[in-house]
Amino acid sequence: MSIRFVDLEKRFGDNVVLDGFSLEVPDGDITTIIGPSGSGKSTCLKTVIGLIRPDAGEVWVDERRVDTLEGDPLYEVRRTVGFVFQFAALFDSMTIFDNVAMGLRRTGELDEAAIGERVRESLDLVDLEGVEDKMPSQLSGGMRKRAGVARAVALRPQYLLYDEPTTGLDPVTVTVIDRLILRMRDELGVTSLVITHDLESAYRVSDRLAMLHQGRIRWVGAPEAIRDVDDPAVQGFIRGEPELWEEAS
Ligand SMILES: Nc1ncnc2c1ncn2[C@@H]1O[C@H](COP(=O)(O)OP(=O)(O)O)[C@@H](O)[C@H]1O
Ligand SMILES: [Mg+2]
Repeated sequence: MSIRFVDLEKRFGDNVVLDGFSLEVPDGDITTIIGPSGSGKSTCLKTVIGLIRPDAGEVWVDERRVDTLEGDPLYEVRRTVGFVFQFAALFDSMTIFDNVAMGLRRTGELDEAAIGERVRESLDLVDLEGVEDKMPSQLSGGMRKRAGVARAVALRPQYLLYDEPTTGLDPVTVTVIDRLILRMRDELGVTSLVITHDLESAYRVSDRLAMLHQGRIRWVGAPEAIRDVDDPAVQGFIRGEPELWEEAS
């Protein structure tokens, strides 16, 4: 049971974004893909739930190949994969309760009482009690982010995908979100795939780091190991030296 990317290729026009991208996300762990803005991180994350289709290669969730799925089978896979969007992506005209309840209502499996219970449980998990009736605009950026996590876990997914969970937040809120990512692993047992260019946050939450460079994974390993990796691309990224990064091939 895991998420696997096998030899993905993706281009937008002349822009080759993924070029032989392969990675396995082991069960129960937090795997983080790091790389600069524009390197293709969101693109690979979106292939997992069918928001972007690769030009070639395969994406697997457990035993299901998802890159070619459509309709109900794709929807079934999406239920097992919670997605925390970069800017929380809450619906502004809906209360926090309705935002978190949306996916649950769509399945039609729970009655309103059970949905209410699940929404409150999910908000408790992210330390957001008592905001059910508020609108997204009434919450701080960090609270909106947490509400986005609550919505992603409401269906009790097996996997959680986080797109830049800490980008644009103040340092204290970054720590809150980092702890939340760890808590989702520890309390819900979810397998997590995080993408970020925030290295400090990546060091804190990851069981495994994977560095994306020129459309493919350049290096995978334990966070403690990355500083000693003898590769100009890796060193260029972690030390913020664009010349090393760009010249590495
Ligand atoms: N839907 C799209 N249409 C055209 N170009 C896109 C689209 N999505 C992403 N791109 C381009 O693909 C590259 C990688 O984007 P993205 O995956 O969002 O990078 P990252 O998340 O690492 O910042 C960028 O050059 C971006 O402009
Ligand atoms: Mg992105």
